Amino acid sequence: MKKVKQQNIDTTYGSYFDYAAATPMSKTVLAVMKPYFSETFYNPSAQYLSAQNVRKSIESARSEVALILGTSPSEIIFTAGGTEANNLAIRGIMANNPDANCVVSAIEHDSVLKSASLYDCRIAPVDKHGRIDLARLKKLIDEKTVLVSIMYANNEIGTVQPLAGISKILSEIKWQRTKKGNSLPLYFHTDACQAPSYLHLLVHTLGVDMMTLNGGKIYGPKQSGVLYVERDIKLKPLVYGGGQEKGLRSGTENVPGIIGFAAALKETVALREIEVARLQKLQQMAWIHIVENIPKAVITGIGTQQLANNLHVRFPGVDNERLMMELDEKGFMVAVGSACSASSDVPSHVLKAIGLSDEDARSSLRITFGRHTNRQDLDKLLKHLKSLLG
Ligand SMILES: Cc1ncc(COP(=O)(O)O)c(C=O)c1O
Repeated sequence: MKKVKQQNIDTTYGSYFDYAAATPMSKTVLAVMKPYFSETFYNPSAQYLSAQNVRKSIESARSEVALILGTSPSEIIFTAGGTEANNLAIRGIMANNPDANCVVSAIEHDSVLKSASLYDCRIAPVDKHGRIDLARLKKLIDEKTVLVSIMYANNEIGTVQPLAGISKILSEIKWQRTKKGNSLPLYFHTDACQAPSYLHLLVHTLGVDMMTLNGGKIYGPKQSGVLYVERDIKLKPLVYGGGQEKGLRSGTENVPGIIGFAAALKETVALREIEVARLQKLQQMAWIHIVENIPKAVITGIGTQQLANNLHVRFPGVDNERLMMELDEKGFMVAVGSACSASSDVPSHVLKAIGLSDEDARSSLRITFGRHTNRQDLDKLLKHLKSLLG
């Protein structure tokens, strides 16, 4: 993949440290999308040439996404974001296999957990860093398991899961099943919404059969996303109608969203190597600063595989909401949990799953970096943290 230099990047987001919740739209992506709101507004299913050109644009976006995932365009389904793609993957499989069960990790996004909870579902535990316990995962899979869903990277603590290793375990189980004459398939789905800016997305190397992506985390439009579905998999649609997206996602296509998603993914992947190296340095600098200046701080994920943009810290005895509001007053935007759980009073299920007490969970802060984060801005945030807590 051709590398591109950082461009169109301004510093207006200097005090923003919540990139795991939302990323600002790339100016390049916005420019590519714009014509599809106005002069190129046609319904891609219409017969005339102008509409057929819009269809071609969609298909070329599909091919671009497929190339990045190392798969074929016919296996790419455009959706309205990550939640819908996760619902389609899980409910699509489970509705077609009503007597089967599924296994999901304890730290999945709610769109996975709540979809899976509609069926016979087992929860695979994680260790104190959020890494899946492979031995226990293996034990949870039985003769009736049709689907395993494990996220690629966690949205709260940034833990990266060993997907290829999990896929290997599933292949062994499938082999044993075949020998016993059990023809039930065993599919592997991953929610990779937090991954594209930092990790490769080659589905065959990862060994996944389905993969969820969304545009709102990769400097593209919100309510845009993709579900990669291996060609032999049969899903039951969530939405019925005109049969768009191979009948899996009926409704007139969100053309600007699709075009924007593909452009955002392409740009993110092209910037990935530079960004990972840059953000890892910032992450390390922040770790050192916090450890040296705020002795009571406990950093989650040190020494484990973690996304380069994630810094998850606990300040025992400190009320995280209060801290977040104090930082907000100074203009710094950080998170106390994932954007969806943050608004409720219930401690995060992810932090509970890694063994934190309610009290510990309520003293945790999530700081996530992105394309616009630079050393000076991070320095300012760390100084404020020190003055509030050091
Ligand atoms: C890991 C993960 N999965 C799924 C989602 C849901 O994606 P969307 O907001 O596009 O529906 C998010 C967004 O918060 C996420 O971080």
